[in-house]
Order: sequence, then structure tokens, then C-alpha cells
Amino acid sequence: MDAHHMTGDLDRVLLTEEQIMTRLQGLADEIWVDYHDRDLLLVGVLKGAVMVMSDLSRALPGSAPMDWMAISSYGSGTKSSGVVRILKDLDTDITGRDVLIVEDIVDSGLTLSWIQANLASRNAASVEICTLLRKPDAAKVPIDVKYVGFDIPNEFVVGYGLDYAEKYRNLRCVATLAPHVYE
Ligand code: IMP
Repeated sequence: MDAHHMTGDLDRVLLTEEQIMTRLQGLADEIWVDYHDRDLLLVGVLKGAVMVMSDLSRALPGSAPMDWMAISSYGSGTKSSGVVRILKDLDTDITGRDVLIVEDIVDSGLTLSWIQANLASRNAASVEICTLLRKPDAAKVPIDVKYVGFDIPNEFVVGYGLDYAEKYRNLRCVATLAPHVYE
């Protein structure tokens, strides 16, 4: 789905498909420099990270296995609470592996810091984070995000995996929503 299919619902396009793809190739190259000789396992968090995982993993110049977690973070509307429940756990034993969590967005960072601590407690050799998007509030929590695609303003965005009430995930770009959609 392209932005013109959704013009009534969107306010403005923050990142085009082309900008996203170019940045993901850059991140993939950086990641490969750091991980090519390590036991890399990409871990995606459903459902938001599906698009990032799909394009980032294919941009890597070598093979990397992937696994998935699904979590629900208790929270209402557009804010997360950091209280997390695992809906689907990894299929893989990560003992001794170099885990790279692949995420769509870090906002408060509460969800990710919980996931990172959870995975680190399973004796992984390392647990790092790669996120396509980061919002300014992420600076307030002690979370070390190793790879960041774009720093974006503190606005609610949709597209490229990110949803509002499960809609807009299949939009190719990242965009802000028109105010009438929330009301
Ligand atoms: P955090 O715990 O506040 O960092 O929130 C992380 C989760 O909240 C993300 O994985 C998203 O599912 C959701 N989220 C945060 N900001 C946005 C946004 O702007 N659009 C869509 N989802 C968001």
C-alpha cells in the first residue's frame, strides 16, 4: 500500500520507502562488519518488526538465522507500560549466541529494556538492539541501542510494520496520522 492509497488518513510522510531501504542497507553493512565471524541470531518482535526484519535480513551480505517473539505490553491506546507478557517465545536456545534484537521503534524503551534483560538472562553471549526508528523519550531510559535507523520527532507514526489499531502496517512508507483518525 502506498501513501496515495491512504491520503485521507495520513498527515505527512516522514520516511519514504526509498529512504528506508537505503538506510537499512547501511545498517546491514555495519552489522555484518561487527557480526560476520560471530554466532549471530536475529530476533524479531512480532508484529511490528516484520517489515524491518524482512528487508534488513535480506540486505545482509551473508546468511543469518532468525527467530521470533510475540509479546503483549499492557498499556492503553498509544502508550506502553513496560509490563510485558510473552505470547510466543523463541524456538531457539540462545545460550552462547550473539543475539541482535530487530525492532521497528523505540519510544519509551520500556518494552525493549524488558526484552533485552529477559534474553540476557538466558545466557546469550551478547544481546544488542537494532531499531529502524527511535523517538526522543528513548534517551530517558538506560537502554543502549547499538544500531539506529532514524531518530524521529515525538509523534505517533504508522506504516512499514507500525500500526494504529492494527491498521496501516502494510504501508510502504512511515507517516504521521491525520488527527481525525484518533478522534
Ligand atoms: P516503548 O516500550 O514505549 O518503547 O514502546 C514500544 C512499542 O510501542 C513499539 O514496539 C510499538 O509497538 C509501540 N509504539 C511506540 N511508538 C509508536 C508509534 O509511533 N507508532 C506505532 N507504534 C508505536
